[in-house]
Amino acid sequence: MKKRIAGVSIGFLCVWANTYALADEAPPMWPWAAATQAPKPSYSAMAQAPAEQPPAPELDTAAQLDVAESKHHFTAAQISSRQAPADWFPEDHPAMPDLVAKGRESVQPPIWACAFCHLPNGKGRPDTAALAGLTYEYIVQQLYDFKNDLRETSDKRKVDSQLMTGFAKSMSHEDIKTVATYFSTLPYTPWIKVIESNTAPKTAARDGVYIPLTGLEAGTEPLSNRIIEVPANTEDFDKRNPRSGFIAYVPVGSLEKGENLIRTGGGKITPCTICHGDDLRGAGPAPPLAGRSPSYLARQMYDMQHRKRAGLFGLQMASVLADLTNDDMLVAAAYAASLQP
Ligand code: HEC
Ligand code: HEC
Repeated sequence: MKKRIAGVSIGFLCVWANTYALADEAPPMWPWAAATQAPKPSYSAMAQAPAEQPPAPELDTAAQLDVAESKHHFTAAQISSRQAPADWFPEDHPAMPDLVAKGRESVQPPIWACAFCHLPNGKGRPDTAALAGLTYEYIVQQLYDFKNDLRETSDKRKVDSQLMTGFAKSMSHEDIKTVATYFSTLPYTPWIKVIESNTAPKTAARDGVYIPLTGLEAGTEPLSNRIIEVPANTEDFDKRNPRSGFIAYVPVGSLEKGENLIRTGGGKITPCTICHGDDLRGAGPAPPLAGRSPSYLARQMYDMQHRKRAGLFGLQMASVLADLTNDDMLVAAAYAASLQP
């Protein structure tokens, strides 16, 4: 009797070890832009730019700022208001629902304007997510997954992911329908330039985004096994200019390796294209991946592999990704990001 129990448990351990052996890797640091390297201060403390991060530029609070091609002007406070962030190009998108443009302070926890983090055009930033071009059904599913604690990030120090959960909890079904309608009608257009390179600009992480160093500290450094995604123009990034995208430096050779893995499965997994579509533009419940932030995609792959996305379809991805290494996920993210959305 004792023997049989031991046999059963050893058998169980083998299956367990087989399924989880590769998924045991610690999270890679680069997709979280240093959040895994050192404890991060709280979100509000981060907004005050602590000494170890490059401080956000000190903008004259009364000055009316502008960005190229916009006829509007905003102060620094208006640009970074979570209750009505700057909308530089209202002509680029349909009228925003109130929740997207202004959030809602009267609920607990308060909902911040979606446009603050995802931009009015829904194209997002490497630290958040692009919502433009996602389907209505997928957006609804994800908001319910956040609401029901079925979606979380692997690094709890990523505070904005936890804020996201709070926003979803404060949203009614009507709210979810309204925002899903808005974002699913926005087109996702090219936003990230992917460059294969042995080097990347020297950067420091600020609020989950790598910012190129300037002045005497500027320069390049070996990229090694990382993807470094930086604003194409830091000043535009700081002004939340929704027409100014990002550059992702990816290791030389990663695009070819990623293409092989995504299209053939590399002999170890189901090819991603079977579910996400031949051009990775999404199909059914599988969302589009083409041209999206490689930092975001890699964080999500790691999270899904570690069963942090446990909604209706999240666990399906966990089994697809079970045998991938962090390096496999890096090349997959690089290749997906390089495709035309
Ligand atoms: C403080 C910044 C912030 C604000 C404001 C914000 N989000 Fe998010 N959102 C995030 C982050 C960060 C993620 C990625 C979460 C993760 O780690 O999985 C995210 C992810 C999402 C996703 C999932 C995208 C995908 O591809 O799966 C949806 C949908 C979403 N947000 C909708 C909204 C809506 C609607 C609002 C406004 C009511 C909003 N967000 C406001 C930061 C924000
Ligand atoms: C069996 C079908 C299937 C296969 C194969 C598959 N996926 Fe997915 N994938 C999905 C579904 C369904 C979702 C949506 C999960 C959810 O709703 O939480 C998803 C979600 C994702 C997301 C999250 C996107 C976002 O906006 O948050 C990424 C990234 C992703 N998959 C990458 C990949 C990669 C890379 C591969 C190949 C290595 C792959 N998937 C293979 C079905 C699949």
